[in-house]
Amino acid sequence: MSTLELPGYRDQSPEVAARFERLRQRPVALEVRGLTKRFETPRGVVTALDDVSFQVHKRELMCVIGPSGCGKSTLVRILAGLETPSSGEVRVYGEPVSGPGSDRGMVFQGYTLFPWLSVKENVMFGPRMAGKSAFSAEREAREWIDLVGLSKFENAYPHQLSGGMKQRVAIARALANQPRVLFMDEPFGALDAQTRCKMQSYLLDIWKNVDITIVFITHDLDEAVFLSDRILVLDANPGRVHEVVEVPVPRPRSEAQLFDPTFMATRKHIDGIMHPPGSGQKETPVMRLAVSDPDVV
Ligand SMILES: Nc1ncnc2c1ncn2[C@@H]1O[C@H](COP(=O)(O)OP(=O)(O)O)[C@@H](O)[C@H]1O
Ligand SMILES: [Mg+2]
Repeated sequence: MSTLELPGYRDQSPEVAARFERLRQRPVALEVRGLTKRFETPRGVVTALDDVSFQVHKRELMCVIGPSGCGKSTLVRILAGLETPSSGEVRVYGEPVSGPGSDRGMVFQGYTLFPWLSVKENVMFGPRMAGKSAFSAEREAREWIDLVGLSKFENAYPHQLSGGMKQRVAIARALANQPRVLFMDEPFGALDAQTRCKMQSYLLDIWKNVDITIVFITHDLDEAVFLSDRILVLDANPGRVHEVVEVPVPRPRSEAQLFDPTFMATRKHIDGIMHPPGSGQKETPVMRLAVSDPDVV
């Protein structure tokens, strides 16, 4: 059988169907209803998001995937309360979102640690701002730093850390505020491929140990399938929900699953949504860089 005829995605077993039924029965952590966002620009109105609705359940890890410019960052900024929608609403455990709040945490692609603070001080920052004593903020920070595997580096400064380590601190710092939902906007996008794979596994390990719901933005298909319970696939221009894809790949996930038929079938299904037949660019002619010469092979 060729990989193009893989069974799997539509061919879900009763166990997988039951798993998603259980997921749907869990409380709704995040509810997005009719979200539309228009930007006025000198070139006219841009509709970044058009009537986007979906739900994320407690302790679910949902990835949002879509082409560049489809409104992923706009969506996550609205969910975080950093931007107001043109219409529609967002609720976290039933409470309407009207601005930033400690119930929601955020990790961005860019390194956002305070460069003048050590790892421990960066992680302590949120708890201290929330009024905790230096003693308890430090104790809590140590636990989060331990969870992301950086105990040996608690006194290091951001410039002494690799990109992957900085993002682990950023995750610890976000978790230290004890949010109920964590938003991650392409957090591993700037890392090399190998570090990125390791970070995906770290994130799943962390998520397993923390009572948190995660919405993870990416444009990388393998990353989305590897991490997610379900994947929200967005169309571009305007950003609309195309489909919510259930990922049947069992947990715990491991890199070995990248070649499992179920993984590949899910990947192929989403690839087919994002790149429907006939949507590709016309073949560009190959540039002739040298005059052809029958002696040169
Ligand atoms: N502040 C803004 N002003 C005007 N247009 C914006 C602004 N932010 C985003 N956009 C536009 O909205 C669309 C979605 O952008 P964005 O959310 O950054 O997409 P993505 O993160 O999926 O690449 C794009 O067309 C972008 O140019
Ligand atoms: Mg973006």
